[in-house]
This record gives sequence, structure tokens and C-alpha cells, in this order.
Amino acid sequence: MNIYINTKYDIKKMKIASYIAKSVLEMIKPYVVPNITTQELNDICHEYIINKHNALPACLGYHGFPKSTCISVNEIICHGIPNKKKKLQNGDIVNIDITIVKDKYYADTSKMFIVGQPSTLAKKLCKVAKKSLYITFPIIKPGMLLNKIGRTIQKYINKTPFSIVEEYCGHGIGKNMHEIPYILHYNNNKKIILQEGMIFTIEPIINAGTKNVISMEDGWSVRTQDYNLSAQYEHTILVNKKGCEILTKRTEEKIQNIYVNN
Ligand code: MF3
Ligand code: CO
Ligand code: CO
Repeated sequence: MNIYINTKYDIKKMKIASYIAKSVLEMIKPYVVPNITTQELNDICHEYIINKHNALPACLGYHGFPKSTCISVNEIICHGIPNKKKKLQNGDIVNIDITIVKDKYYADTSKMFIVGQPSTLAKKLCKVAKKSLYITFPIIKPGMLLNKIGRTIQKYINKTPFSIVEEYCGHGIGKNMHEIPYILHYNNNKKIILQEGMIFTIEPIINAGTKNVISMEDGWSVRTQDYNLSAQYEHTILVNKKGCEILTKRTEEKIQNIYVNN
């Protein structure tokens, strides 16, 4: 199996899908406040994706996933199932992960929301998790070895008190939610060369304590083994002629859209 190289037409469609996905994260921001339930947040996103953008929430029914978004609070590292009993509280850190499909093309992005006043640790962890994603953008270009992404993240995280989850990875994305190549976020020796036209996600999960994780009884949520906090940011990224383009970049983010990397 070869890694798919997107055509001009594919890229146009992926930009539309990515715009919708990132718009969901922008739209939901004012709702992420104390006492709202993760079910209510899910329902607002669901309505917005369908009614405002005429797109579909791709998580709903994906391998049986029961909701339209993944919402993962505090020690939940990923795949949190929105739930009407789970109320957000002051100081919580919340990952909302949005995958949508528009005209058969998928886009996938997530970010952390901080509810009210966070602890110093929570703030630091989110900042480091975001930076671990951002530092990969200035290195991505055609001809580069894919494993440089994981090596770059590992080198950075090794200088912090935090750890990298190894069980989950970034992924190619296009006409499928998940496809090759898979992008490890830690030191590895996978020798794949990036080419112009590849599109994939990068989505490092960074833990405050141990990197070890445990799957929960609901069949989806995964938590840190030691119940310490976890944070994750995810973007969908196009490898272009001279570098890369962050397709799911939000207006609020103080980064470039397009990276020219020589
Ligand atoms: N958005 C997740 C990812 O980043 C995938 C969620 S699949 C679901 O790859 F079924 F859990 F929703
Ligand atoms: Co993803
Ligand atoms: Co995602």
C-alpha cells in the first residue's frame, strides 16, 4: 500500500472540510464554562456541523462510537464519550476533538479548553502540549524523514517534567478518517519520506505524570494510569512544495498558515 498523494481537487476539498472542523472549535469556545455537561457541548457541535455546514460528524457511529465528538476531561487522555452526567467544573482542562466529513473528505482537529481558573500545572501542561505540536511545523517539507516529527517532539518533551503517550498516533487523512502513514510522537526509526501532496494529522498526547494509560469500561475512554492530567492538540496538515500548510489553523492561533521550510 502506498501513501496517497492528494490532487489539486482533493486539496481543495480537504481545505473545505478542514475549515468546517476548525470552525466547530471556534464556535464552541464560549460554551465551555462551569456546569455545562459534555453531552450539551456535544449536541451544540452536532447541530452546528449538520445545520450550519451541511457536513457530518464523523465520530458518530465510527466503529460504534456513540457520540458526535470526543470530549476528554483532565485525566482522560482521549476518546472521552460525551455524557449528560459529566458537568464541567472550575479548573478542568478539556480536550474537544472534532472529526467531520464533507463531500466524502475528512478533517480532524482538537484543542484544550480551560474552564475558569486553572492550576499552574494545568496551564503549563496545556502550553507544553500545544508547543509540542507547533515545533513540528517548521521542519515539515518534502524529502524529510517522517520520523523527524516524533524525534523533534521527544527531544522537546525530554526537557520538561512531562511524558508522551505511545499508544496513539497521528494518521494520514483524506477519504478515510485514518489511513497511512501513522505518525508516532516519540523517537522511532520508521523510514518514510514525505512527499508533496501528503495530508496527515499530528496529535501528541502529553501527560503530567506517567506515560502509561488505561482503557476504561465504557470501551472508549482512556485515562492516565496515575490519574494525573493529560493534554492534546491536533491539526490536519498538508505537505506542500516548500514546507507545509496547517489546514485546520484557527484564527485565534498565533502561528503561520503556511510554513516555508528550507
Ligand atoms: N479524532 C480522533 C483522532 O484524532 C478519532 C476519534 S474516533 C472516535 O484520530 F471514534 F473515537 F470518535
Ligand atoms: Co486524529
Ligand atoms: Co482527532
